[in-house]
Amino acid sequence: MTTDLHVVQGNETVAPGIYRLSVGPSSPSAAVPAAVQPGQFHMLKTVAPEPLLPRPISIHEVTGDVLSFLYEVKGAGTRNLAALKPGDPLRVTGPLGRGFDVDALSGRILLVAGGIGIAPFRYLARALAEAGRTQVTLAAGFRSRPYGIEDFQPCVRDVRIATEDGSEGVKGRVTSLYSPRDFDVVVACGPVPMMRAVQQGCAEAGTRGILSMEARMACGVGLCLGCTIRTTTGMRRVCTDGPVFPGEEVFFDAHA
Ligand SMILES: Cc1cc2nc3c(=O)[nH]c(=O)nc-3n(C[C@H](O)[C@H](O)[C@H](O)COP(=O)(O)OP(=O)(O)OC[C@H]3O[C@@H](n4cnc5c(N)ncnc54)[C@H](O)[C@@H]3O)c2cc1C
Ligand code: FES
Repeated sequence: MTTDLHVVQGNETVAPGIYRLSVGPSSPSAAVPAAVQPGQFHMLKTVAPEPLLPRPISIHEVTGDVLSFLYEVKGAGTRNLAALKPGDPLRVTGPLGRGFDVDALSGRILLVAGGIGIAPFRYLARALAEAGRTQVTLAAGFRSRPYGIEDFQPCVRDVRIATEDGSEGVKGRVTSLYSPRDFDVVVACGPVPMMRAVQQGCAEAGTRGILSMEARMACGVGLCLGCTIRTTTGMRRVCTDGPVFPGEEVFFDAHA
């Protein structure tokens, strides 16, 4: 894990309120970036004085020493990110957390994304393809127009889309796109109610669920305990014990 000043290479709008940011090292002699595991995240902080704390954003793609992030504007921190222009500096700390164990994902693999939860799956899908996994399906759900789904083929064999307003794909929820019984493992990233529904389906079907959990984060490195969630193995920090957890370990009654 390192904290480095990076330079913005691109920051384009991919859908209303959704941006793809790419950053590179600030100089050719900058430290070679650490290997990034899919599902890990970085803490990003612009030079703006407010908000004081950096924001956690998942790794979306790695190309050489260029890191890409896909993010949704929610509040001041992500608004500052959206204002970045090529050449601007950005403080990047990472890679952080425990990501997806690609070696442990095999057979019929389903990736379930809810909204901006699609962000970590681009890099995961590529890692799975490079590891020879040929039975990967993506099911992605959005409120309205989908985003971030362009580059998945040929890494996955099937892309299924659901939108709540019916503007594309199946009208309804992402969980209507699949039966967990048809898969050996279901990997999910999205809002808590979706994760709860995904894990409930997995439990009923006896299918392994793997969840990338979200939490408000202050430090990102295990010190403040602000990101803890309740699990079958006690209170765990999303930033260092996760964000990826076995689904059956997460107590959803502790979440909003
Ligand atoms: C491990 C991890 C990876 C993440 N990866 C991505 C990513 O790839 N792309 C992306 O767009 N976002 C990602 N997020 C969420 C992102 O960190 C938050 O949206 C961001 O911190 C919001 O900051 P803000 O200053 O813009 O908004 P704030 O002003 O801090 O918050 C705006 C609103 O969003 C809510 N909120 C903020 N953070 C969270 C959170 N973590 N969980 C639930 N609600 C929250 C607040 O309660 C508030 O209602 C990730 C979060 C975690 C923990
Ligand atoms: S964010 Fe501080 S312990 Fe996780």
